[in-house]
Amino acid sequence: MEIDFSTLRPAECYKVLSSLVTPRPIAWVSTMDEAGVVNAAPFSFFNCFGSNPPVLAFAPGNKSPGLPKDTARNIRSNREFVVNMADEALAEKMVETSASLPHGESELEATGLTAAPSSSIAVPRIAEAPVAFECREWATLEIGSNRMVVGTVHHAHLRDGILNPATFHLEHGSFLPVGRMAAPDWYCRTGDQYEIARPS
Ligand SMILES: Cc1cc2nc3c(=O)[nH]c(=O)nc-3n(C[C@H](O)[C@H](O)[C@H](O)COP(=O)(O)O)c2cc1C
Repeated sequence: MEIDFSTLRPAECYKVLSSLVTPRPIAWVSTMDEAGVVNAAPFSFFNCFGSNPPVLAFAPGNKSPGLPKDTARNIRSNREFVVNMADEALAEKMVETSASLPHGESELEATGLTAAPSSSIAVPRIAEAPVAFECREWATLEIGSNRMVVGTVHHAHLRDGILNPATFHLEHGSFLPVGRMAAPDWYCRTGDQYEIARPS
């Protein structure tokens, strides 16, 4: 089978890419609007892209031509966001926060989650998340109806026991984020991991 992308509609491109570029990590992004309402939504077009400076990026597609999702709209207004990470225990709540509530209604309140203060930015993190990265927007690229939000990381909150505080090595088994698999609703667990040594 071969696929010529020039013949595909955007919804078909989405199915092909999102089913095959897997597993993807999921950014559970909290932002804040002008009235101080905390918004949360998951984005699996997400990864980290560098360490000097530390860079994360995720991509909220537009709601309709030219109209950003609430997450992108909030970041445009105050240039701050938190990338929270969801583990298996939080996966269903994380998916619940993808409901498209009207602007000004908080997905955190709607799902019984808690906003906790951040340390370096005004936008709160999700208290229940085992990992949260406080970020400032570096740039948002508009590519057709995609927006790619690129941010630098300024502070992290981790549940105790995830990283060794002396070495920053992961304590294996202590952090089991879920991964996004085939469109529309498949996920993977990350409890089955193994090691491959690199050539010297
Ligand atoms: C696991 C998961 C991953 C998602 N990834 C994306 C994504 O990468 N880009 C996107 O535009 N929407 C994605 N969505 C849909 C958004 O979460 C959804 O449109 C949400 O309502 C956006 O919220 P907002 O308008 O408050 O920003 C995803 C949904 C789920 C459940």
